[in-house]
Amino acid sequence: MRRNIWIDTDPGIDDAIAIAAAFASTDRLKICGISTVAGNQTIDIVTDNALWLTELLGGKEVSVVRGAEHPLIRRPHPVGRVHGEHGLGYVIPDKPARTLTSAQGAAFLYQAIRDLPGEEKMTLVPIGPLTNIALLLGTYPKIRQKIDQIVLMGGSAREGNITATAEYNIWADPEAAEMVFQSGVPIVMCGLDVTMKCLLTMEEILKLKKAGPIQQQFARMLEFYFDSTAYRGKGSVAMHDSVPFLYLLQEEKFSGEHHVMHVSCTEDSCRGMTCVCDGAYTYSQTEKPQNVYVLKDVDAAWFTQELMERLMRY
Ligand code: BDR
Ligand code: CA
Repeated sequence: MRRNIWIDTDPGIDDAIAIAAAFASTDRLKICGISTVAGNQTIDIVTDNALWLTELLGGKEVSVVRGAEHPLIRRPHPVGRVHGEHGLGYVIPDKPARTLTSAQGAAFLYQAIRDLPGEEKMTLVPIGPLTNIALLLGTYPKIRQKIDQIVLMGGSAREGNITATAEYNIWADPEAAEMVFQSGVPIVMCGLDVTMKCLLTMEEILKLKKAGPIQQQFARMLEFYFDSTAYRGKGSVAMHDSVPFLYLLQEEKFSGEHHVMHVSCTEDSCRGMTCVCDGAYTYSQTEKPQNVYVLKDVDAAWFTQELMERLMRY
């Protein structure tokens, strides 16, 4: 039985690798569509990248819809220093030949979920800021019944990466993240606690380089990551956005804990923080129901091997 998944993304180097891993797993994952969201780069750039990637990966039949141009109330904050001016590191994609689905992100996503036959449900896999998902759940609240779970990349129970306290995807649109976390839909949070253990080293990049032409594109993207301010001088790069997909493929390789989770929506140094808002992470002092399953650990060697095996399938 294949699981229906919807990918919400801002490609993005690690988004591209994650999408490649997902497209190499269609024996287990049925990719029902992709929506784009402003995040790592502008909506125009990430949407072109998503279209180009689906062509590259042989997934032209998968709908790509353009999603939110900016966060709910904040200004967009592209991170070209990490993902490059074009979003995919040293790869400068050709203008994609295929065109977008004309409908808008949240409305199209709503229809796709609503029209699933019978008892079928959708698993949402957001790997960028949560703007589209918040718009979906806010505009069409009843659709929650047809959403199995949201397995997202974002947040951190410890320190952040865009600021000392916050992870980028949550920080970029904290109001959207808070709406999603409080929506009542079961949530698996693949945050920095686990994603910083999910690595590729230069050794793997060299293997990709020596494989086929598609793997060489992956390698060119990842080399930029190695050179970026986020990873310069480090021996490995974190494959944040692949984590939700590999979790869906083999949950037993991961462990985590259920927690009460709120997002700090302030304008100060706690903006986007997901760790101690309810004091519940470490001490479980609150009476509120636990709303998020926070992944904390992984069989890291398995992760690298499994991801590489999928990237080598092209
Ligand atoms: C997240 O931020 C983005 O830059 C990456 O694509 C990933 O989704 C990691 O914090
Ligand atoms: Ca991303």
